[in-house]
Amino acid sequence: MNKYFEANRNNWNERVGIHKKSKFYNVEGFLKGKSSLDSLELEELGDVKGKKLLHLQCHFGMSTLSLARMGAEVTGADFSDEAIEFAKELTKKTGLKAEFVCSNVLELNEHLKGEFDIVFASYGVFCWIPDLSRWFEIASHFLKPGGKLVILDGHPTNHLFEYSEQKKEIEMIGPYFNTKAHRYIEDYTYTDGDKKMVNNVEYEWAHPFSEFVMSAINNGLRITSVKEYLYSSYEMFPNMKKINGGLWILEGSDLPLTFSMKCVKE
Ligand SMILES: C[S@@+](CC[C@H](N)C(=O)[O-])C[C@H]1O[C@@H](n2cnc3c(N)ncnc32)[C@H](O)[C@@H]1O
Repeated sequence: MNKYFEANRNNWNERVGIHKKSKFYNVEGFLKGKSSLDSLELEELGDVKGKKLLHLQCHFGMSTLSLARMGAEVTGADFSDEAIEFAKELTKKTGLKAEFVCSNVLELNEHLKGEFDIVFASYGVFCWIPDLSRWFEIASHFLKPGGKLVILDGHPTNHLFEYSEQKKEIEMIGPYFNTKAHRYIEDYTYTDGDKKMVNNVEYEWAHPFSEFVMSAINNGLRITSVKEYLYSSYEMFPNMKKINGGLWILEGSDLPLTFSMKCVKE
């Protein structure tokens, strides 16, 4: 692992301890049967019953296990050993059937065998990936011919905007193109809970829309759908309104907050 992945993995390992106790992840609700997938994810995935599904960057597996509850035969992968350990604990507690693999997604072919009907990843996925083409190569590698890739994430323009506490407005800060690793210090994670993190250094990469399109095309994937939404999966900016399906909207704004893309392996 290079210094970027090592810092990010330490950061994610520490977040797991905070996230599993947070209202945001609501593990208790999940254990009582609540799905952790929002209405956009469910719509884009469609019927998963009986399908072999690989969930990339699955965190501690609540969405993976929510898909198992819907009848999919699931495998989740993540490079955080703490996340995978907790995913396995949740699997035992729920009595569901699921496999979990601990690996850097870009090297997953060295740790997992098999072919899948669906490869899925959502929300907070691509900012951690320096080489988007390699990510799509991995997704393509694990798909059966005719299999489907389904992704949803923050819109590529998300990196451009940030809410300024000082000015009380959203301002443009960049970057848009993938030119280098961006080092950030984040003392707190995005969930509720005010525990200050020790492993607070993280590295992120921006990816323009063209990189998603070309990464699919160059790795044997035919794009069948691309959508851009005014909704986000969490309260990205202050004063957003919660709407049905677990989504948030910034009233009066037309900033694209989320995108989805579906591809078929040729
Ligand atoms: C925001 S979470 C994924 C969101 C997921 N929908 C959720 O909330 O359950 C991002 C995940 O990506 C994982 N991750 C980041 N970089 C990775 C890498 N290079 N290889 C594998 N997993 C990685 C982190 O460990 C984390 O669990």
